[in-house]
Amino acid sequence: MKHHPNIILVGFMGSGKTTIAKIISNVLKLRFIDLDSWIEKNNKSSVPIIFATKGEAYFRTEEEKAIKWLSRKDKYVVSIGGGAWISEINRKRFLHMGWCVWLKVTASEVWRRIRNEYKNRPLLAKSKNPLQKINNLMKKRENFYRLAHFTCDTTSRTPEEIATLIVGKYEKLIIHSKSKSVRS
Ligand code: S3P
Repeated sequence: MKHHPNIILVGFMGSGKTTIAKIISNVLKLRFIDLDSWIEKNNKSSVPIIFATKGEAYFRTEEEKAIKWLSRKDKYVVSIGGGAWISEINRKRFLHMGWCVWLKVTASEVWRRIRNEYKNRPLLAKSKNPLQKINNLMKKRENFYRLAHFTCDTTSRTPEEIATLIVGKYEKLIIHSKSKSVRS
């Protein structure tokens, strides 16, 4: 592993990726990037509007473009959209470009966090039963999320506690990779 690989936060919407990535980037003095914001900037439009006007397939292509751009970067803390990890091409890129951490969260907790703003979430907005939709999507996606390098259970932990835990693991990884490269 590189001495300062990117840290990539993976997980379902509402798992806290962006909040936690910002804290980690401050603590470690690494640059922060949110892939959805990158896409929004590039398209001069918001994610819900991109979905509504150009469709999900277009959004996924933009997501792939953003990941390709990012794959040449180093020393970033990255929060990605909940669906970006599901494509095998994207996942392989992420696994190659950095240390991937899955922020595990339950469906009921996701619903508790986003119930007041789920209408802004393109995959849930039109659903008659958004909690059911979250449950179904989560069941399908968990098999992919668990392929990340490290799983962090976010249940009953604050964003600060989660960030501290991730920073601690990351620092150990760096020390380990440095001592390995000194030996070899
Ligand atoms: C999506 C999650 C969203 C955003 C888009 C699609 C998904 O990002 O990329 O609405 O497929 O789960 P967050 O996970 O940051 O909410």
